[in-house]
Amino acid sequence: MEQHSLEAVVDEALVRKWIEEYGSDASAAVPLLQAVQNEYGYLPREAMDMIVSGTRITASQLYGVATFYSQFRLDPVGRNMIKVCHGTACHVSGADRLNTALRQSLGIKDDAEDTASNGSYTIEDVACVGCCSLAPVMVIGDETHGNLSGADAQRHLKKHARRNGEFLPGHEEEKSDEAARTRQSSENRKKEVRQ
Ligand code: FES
Repeated sequence: MEQHSLEAVVDEALVRKWIEEYGSDASAAVPLLQAVQNEYGYLPREAMDMIVSGTRITASQLYGVATFYSQFRLDPVGRNMIKVCHGTACHVSGADRLNTALRQSLGIKDDAEDTASNGSYTIEDVACVGCCSLAPVMVIGDETHGNLSGADAQRHLKKHARRNGEFLPGHEEEKSDEAARTRQSSENRKKEVRQ
């Protein structure tokens, strides 16, 4: 299977700028981690090392904070986020079914994984997103969808992928077909221009 590195390339100047802004003491750990996660979607190892070497915060303090708060994640994320609401209303209306259906579409078999192998999507369970009357709800990118069955969730995912040039794992051949079609039409256009 093709492997996709999801690791972010960390901008050292940016990390230095945040350290200047938030300081070097242990009290700066949370804002520094928030800045890193806002930028990269997770906490890249490289950024964590830069913070440890550029501040008085020790590695155990920094990782202690990162693992204490559920808002932080240490693993890379996919190019798109799917948030599945697991607030009470969504939970009783079948949020788990959405997770099962989405994981199936994305070929995520390992319970410990939440990201498709091609780096297209990450599924995240979140607390109430504020539209309980539409339960169960999911948010893909900036689109909110409600009253969903598992099949609805899969359909919305497919549409989102199509609109955003993503391909679900197992459908990469569509990508090659599309690339071939694009090449063919550009060759046709060149021929027309020459004639
Ligand atoms: S519980 Fe899901 S939107 Fe409120």
